[in-house]
Amino acid sequence: MSGGPYDDRGNQDATITNPRGMGEDDPVHAGGHEHPAPGGPFLIGEAMTGGYGRGADILHSCTIAVDRGEIAVIVGPNGAGKSTAMKAVFGMLNLRKGMVRLDGEDITELTPQARVQKGMGFVPQTHNIFTSMTVEENLEMGAFIRRDDISGTLEQVYELFPILKDKRKQAAGELSGGQRQQVAVGRALMTKPKVLMLDEPTAGVSPIVMDELFDRIIEVARTGLPVLMVEQNARQALAIADKGYVLVQGRNAHTGTGKALLADDEVRRSFLGG
Ligand SMILES: Nc1ncnc2c1ncn2[C@@H]1O[C@H](COP(=O)(O)OP(=O)(O)O)[C@@H](O)[C@H]1O
Ligand SMILES: [Mg+2]
Repeated sequence: MSGGPYDDRGNQDATITNPRGMGEDDPVHAGGHEHPAPGGPFLIGEAMTGGYGRGADILHSCTIAVDRGEIAVIVGPNGAGKSTAMKAVFGMLNLRKGMVRLDGEDITELTPQARVQKGMGFVPQTHNIFTSMTVEENLEMGAFIRRDDISGTLEQVYELFPILKDKRKQAAGELSGGQRQQVAVGRALMTKPKVLMLDEPTAGVSPIVMDELFDRIIEVARTGLPVLMVEQNARQALAIADKGYVLVQGRNAHTGTGKALLADDEVRRSFLGG
């Protein structure tokens, strides 16, 4: 199958269709299963080293994390490994070293499917919607792990992105780039995730649409949902970031608050165009 979410995958070993992680009797929203992180971030990929299949390592002891109430942003040149780092955190890559923890629990060995069950929402950089399905069908598909009533969440997504309600019966492939990205984010929200991971949510949209999307993402984050996102619009993204990571060649080059990175001479010169 192609054209579906999570398809952008080079590793055949850890697939979302792997039944290993399914059928767990531990629904995300049943509550009660808290694993408090003693001082650690809510979601962390720590010292991750790994690559695709049997290929060379792409990530070299790379760490990315997001804490409760935060927006964390990953920036860096093309090919730096930003998407690879996100895929590693979501379980689409076999790590040779390092680990991933969610709310203090080691989830390094879990499949992507099982991570969704644990509360991770992921919007991949490409193939993040089903273009031949309607907007509403996309959102309903997003809720695939839920067995409860999803109508309330659907309404919340329509409140956040009103244009999607107007276009709910249209094929998602007929929408503009910015609207498709709203569908993709809405889809991820349909699982009621505990953390939202976005890989270049503003790719290919105009500056005005980018600003609007950022506003919606800030709105989502303010509801208490931590957001970890990759952005190519480094300056604008760091401006809204509580925490920023600059990745270069699969390594952490600079880490700090968004504000500190924007003020850092070396970061400005090398990554922000002066
Ligand atoms: N599916 C894949 N299989 C093999 N190599 C890949 C795959 N996807 C990306 N890569 C390689 O991994 C490196 C990092 O790519 P990527 O994580 O997509 O960078 P970024 O998102 O920062 O632009 C690049 O050298 C790229 O060619
Ligand atoms: Mg990428």
